[in-house]
Amino acid sequence: MAWVAWNESLAVGNALLDSDHRLLIDLLNQLHDAIDTGQSRDVIGNVVSVLAEYVEHHFQREEAIMADAGFPGMDAHLSQHRDLGGRVRRVRDRYLAGERGALAEDVVDLLKKWLTEHIQVSDNSYKPWVARASGDGMGPSAMARKGGNQS
Ligand SMILES: [Fe+2]
Repeated sequence: MAWVAWNESLAVGNALLDSDHRLLIDLLNQLHDAIDTGQSRDVIGNVVSVLAEYVEHHFQREEAIMADAGFPGMDAHLSQHRDLGGRVRRVRDRYLAGERGALAEDVVDLLKKWLTEHIQVSDNSYKPWVARASGDGMGPSAMARKGGNQS
């Protein structure tokens, strides 16, 4: 069984972003498994490097989609991305520099917590805007129509 399992609390209402988030979770699982099964420093270093790079790539994509969707909480969300991306890069840099304990169990647990909580809490807040922009009918105006508030 996967260390981190996908569940509906991680869904943000956009197929591209959901598939990015699934890939990030897959990379977290790969990192955890590589450490758990005693893989070489090269293998573990590669996984943590791909994770850090994909985090950046994904944040850029997510920021473009949020901007297109007119999400009003962009500034706070962007600063969270800068902070989170920096934390993941620092873990990677310390590991690649050979620091003992850079990927100790508690650090890997933190990576999981930072990323899953960001998706569940912060990313969840743009869901109605992004869903509306995706045209799937689940945005705020569609919800209002569903409630019969418009004549
Ligand atoms: Fe985000």
